[in-house]
Amino acid sequence: MNETNSGHVHDDTHTDYHAAKAMAEARMQRGVWQDRFAERFVPFASRTMDCGLSRQSVDAIAEGKNYVSYRGIGMAKDPFDMVLYPILLHEVAPATVIELGAYTGASALWMADTLATMEIKSRVISVDIDLSLVDEKAKGRSDIEFREGDCNAIEELFPPEMLHQLPHPLVLIDDAHVNIAGVYRHFHEHALREGDYLVIEDTIPWMPGAFGPINEDAGTGQVTEWGDWKWREILKFFREHGDDYRVDRYYTDFFGLNATWNWNGFVRRGG
Ligand SMILES: C[S@@+](CC[C@H](N)C(=O)[O-])C[C@H]1O[C@@H](n2cnc3c(N)ncnc32)[C@H](O)[C@@H]1O
Repeated sequence: MNETNSGHVHDDTHTDYHAAKAMAEARMQRGVWQDRFAERFVPFASRTMDCGLSRQSVDAIAEGKNYVSYRGIGMAKDPFDMVLYPILLHEVAPATVIELGAYTGASALWMADTLATMEIKSRVISVDIDLSLVDEKAKGRSDIEFREGDCNAIEELFPPEMLHQLPHPLVLIDDAHVNIAGVYRHFHEHALREGDYLVIEDTIPWMPGAFGPINEDAGTGQVTEWGDWKWREILKFFREHGDDYRVDRYYTDFFGLNATWNWNGFVRRGG
């Protein structure tokens, strides 16, 4: 029994906290329940573009997502991924995180802070075509490196000889959404090794807003939508290299099928 500030008494004797803790110790490894999914790592080809969340709930969450901030800096993350990333970072303990799409630098700062809190020695490399929005708090950090450059010229932004020297494990996050197959081929060839992760952000087709010119909507007044163009782009890469990667259901399906902005987007290298 415990007493709250309001004077109400909660009866929590129905919960055996000792048993719950013992169960977690037996079945968890690096913060991840080992028996949650019978088949955790599944081929890309077995996945569909469906989601357990309703369209209505995603619309409401998308509205709130516009106002997410970290340490006072605007950050483009949904609540599901704000839970999933720290678990992933703890489990993988990456020596290197590469983020494509720095925006304000908030997400790089958040990941660097999270890794430091977990006492994981790591370096976050975050790139953007325009670093002018990056906040001073993030710029001053020795464990974050910002690089300005164009993912359309990925070999210049990340020369192979530089990638070959990066410490592993590595987590690569694609949140820039350009030259997708070209970028993934480059990192596949020069950076990603067995056990490394590729997080493909914003595969969810239901986001408001358009990518590129939407000619068919011109003048109709129709609300444009992100759509499944990113999924179609990434399939170009996974048709070639599907055998080398597995979708990690622990993260994609943590809160229900693809209950994340990154539908089928937590991918581990290794057959
Ligand atoms: C969705 S935002 C990134 C959000 C950030 N990662 C976060 O979680 O808060 C996408 C970023 O990609 C950048 N970007 C767009 N085209 C790019 C390109 N060709 N090369 C590199 N970055 C690009 C944009 O400038 C923008 O800041």
